[in-house]
Amino acid sequence: MDEDAIYNRHFEVFLLWACRETGVVDELLAGTEGTAALAAGAGITERAADIVLGCLVELGYAERADGGYRATESLRVLDPEADVLDRGMLPHRLDSLENYMQLPEVMRTGEPPEHTDAGFRNFVGAMATVEDVAVREIVTTVEHAHPRPDTVLDVGGGPGRFGAEFARRGADVALFDRPGVLDLLESHHADLGLDVVAGDALESLPAGFDLVFSARMTTSFTPADLRAYFENAFDALKPGGTFVCTERVRGMSEMDNRFAFHMLTLTDTGNTHTADEYRSALEDVGFVDVEIDDVPRTEFQTVVGRKER
Ligand SMILES: C[S@@+](CC[C@H](N)C(=O)[O-])C[C@H]1O[C@@H](n2cnc3c(N)ncnc32)[C@H](O)[C@@H]1O
Repeated sequence: MDEDAIYNRHFEVFLLWACRETGVVDELLAGTEGTAALAAGAGITERAADIVLGCLVELGYAERADGGYRATESLRVLDPEADVLDRGMLPHRLDSLENYMQLPEVMRTGEPPEHTDAGFRNFVGAMATVEDVAVREIVTTVEHAHPRPDTVLDVGGGPGRFGAEFARRGADVALFDRPGVLDLLESHHADLGLDVVAGDALESLPAGFDLVFSARMTTSFTPADLRAYFENAFDALKPGGTFVCTERVRGMSEMDNRFAFHMLTLTDTGNTHTADEYRSALEDVGFVDVEIDDVPRTEFQTVVGRKER
């Protein structure tokens, strides 16, 4: 297949986005008798219904059932009622397409597109898709910097993929995040056995930890925010404790530019930061022995700072 052909490059994401927008997805979630019923239900032409149904079946998003068509499991992730953590990346990918279409305006004004409640739930679902192998590699790299921490604060822990891995390796983990995220994931965090603390890392953090860790959070911060967060992380550590954040560091990650571009559509401040920016922000608030290294087999780096005894 010619991946560069005009009908291939953006085919799937545009198809699914248009089907979500027009209500084709809803019709298939409910089950439809066929082309005419789909056209009538979604308010699209029969020609369009015929064509998109063929595409959706070919891609495995729809299947024949009971003389009509219905959504497969792959399409059910777009059901607004689907569990947030079962959604995977697809709903957020479609939201991102919409956001990318607004990039000219975002680039002119600096204002990101408005985020909806539905988009927030899709974003939280997308957070949980970080690959197991990346989680393990990152936590192993962190444990080289601070072997066997008894207590870990996972700041901006979201769905708790990293917090759960620290807990699996024997640490007592407190997961810190904004109240909206914690409310949405309350039963999930309880299932994982993680303590949770709600707040804003730029305001204050709970104290008394061997290790303060965060993953994929500081790319939403300005340089001034970085300092405020690092100051709070410093205060949250016991003497002799270690701070580690894992990020795509500008100039080191193979994804630094394209991730910064993506951040244009997500926040009004987000960006990637250089190793020098991380280093000077950490040293300014009192951290010593700052180290910034690649995490093997991932696109991420670890940024390490130590609090003296
Ligand atoms: C991209 S998600 C990463 C989640 C998780 N660390 C991971 O890597 O899977 C960023 C998380 O940081 C949280 N966050 C961002 N800014 C924050 C702040 N100022 N205080 C607390 N949490 C924050 C967000 O709510 C979100 O859960």
